[in-house]
Order: sequence, then C-alpha cells, then structure tokens
Amino acid sequence: MAKVKIGPSTHLYPKPAVLVGALVDGRANFMTASWCGIACEKPPAMSLALRKIRHTLKGINQQGTFSINLPSVALAPQVDYCGIHSGKDTDKSAVFQVFYGLLQTAPLVQECPLNFECRLLHSLDLGSHMLVVGQIMETHVDQGCLADGKPDVEKIDPLTYASGTSQYHRLGEAVGQAYGIGKLL
Ligand SMILES: Cc1cc2nc3c(=O)[nH]c(=O)nc-3n(C[C@H](O)[C@H](O)[C@H](O)COP(=O)(O)O)c2cc1C
Repeated sequence: MAKVKIGPSTHLYPKPAVLVGALVDGRANFMTASWCGIACEKPPAMSLALRKIRHTLKGINQQGTFSINLPSVALAPQVDYCGIHSGKDTDKSAVFQVFYGLLQTAPLVQECPLNFECRLLHSLDLGSHMLVVGQIMETHVDQGCLADGKPDVEKIDPLTYASGTSQYHRLGEAVGQAYGIGKLL
C-alpha cells in the first residue's frame, strides 16, 4: 500500500486512557492521561508525559508519589470528566471512591480494576511535557479480574484512546500467542 507522510505526529495506537492520582495541596486529584507506558522492569517503572501546567503534576512534585489507575470501558464518562476539568478550579476528589495503600500519599481509584502505586524516580523536561518516571511500589487488582494470579485483560476491559479521532475504544479479541505464533513461520 502507498504511504502518505503526515509529518511528525503522536498518533501511536493503542494508547491507554489512565487516571493519574496525586495529592495536591492535601486534596486527592485525578487527571486523565493517555501518554503512559511501562519504562523498566528492574526496578519496575512507568512513565507519564504531563504538560507542565497540570494540577496533578504539582501534587506529584509535592509528595513524590502518585498512582496510575486503569479504568474499564464502563468508566469512560468519569475518565473524560477528569480530562476536561482541572483540579485548579474543580474539586475532583469525590468523583471516585478513594483508597490509599503502601505509600499513603498516592490516592487510588477503587472503581478501577488495576491500580499502581508509584514513587517519583525521575522528571525529564522534554519541552511542552515533563516525562515523569515512577517506580511501581505496589499493584492492586480486583479479585475478579485475575486469571492464574495475573491481571486478565478481557476481565479488566481497559479503556483505550485514539487521538486521531478523539474517540475512546475497547480492545478487540486475542489474535495469537506471543512468543509462540512466530515459531510457526
Ligand atoms: C483522553 C485524554 C487523554 C489525555 N492525556 C493527557 C496526557 O497524556 N498528558 C497530559 O498532560 N494531559 C492529558 N490530558 C489532558 C488532562 O487530562 C486535562 O488537562 C486535565 O484537566 C488535567 O487535570 P489537572 O489539571 O487536574 O491535573 C488528556 C485528556 C483526555 C480527555
């Protein structure tokens, strides 16, 4: 198929739509982020790309801790709400049932089936965004979303985001065993 150049872009798919939690001036705040990924295994770490003006970033820097919460598709309206409203002028602390884990200063979302508690490891100024890297200190999973002791993607039904159309999506069906189907070639 012919290729079309569309210039430098950030349209990598799929992107998760996660909720980042932080205590800002002592109040729990949650923002939506799709620029999120796994960064390291030892120590286990995740990265976020956050615009410098985000209220949540202020809290991450204040406490040195934050949470990353993976919502199910059913939470799409609440996720969008947290991506439209800033904690600077909207109290988002009661949008979700909040709980605290090991770190005690990283607010976690009870309604999200998968939650990571992170300790701030690195902040890298890349321009418009700060690349925030957090060490994963604990993972919480809804009991009903486990299969063989691991988080099960079909049970979690994670919300994903497509930046090109600004639409939320659901993941599709499994298409093959990783580290397996390639051996058949
Ligand atoms: C689907 C979606 C994805 C988003 N992803 C990011 C992101 O990766 N990084 C970012 O800085 N802002 C992102 N935003 C924007 C913030 O969520 C939004 O500005 C929010 O109001 C910030 O909240 P806060 O000021 O309380 O931290 C996203 C918004 C939406 C709706």
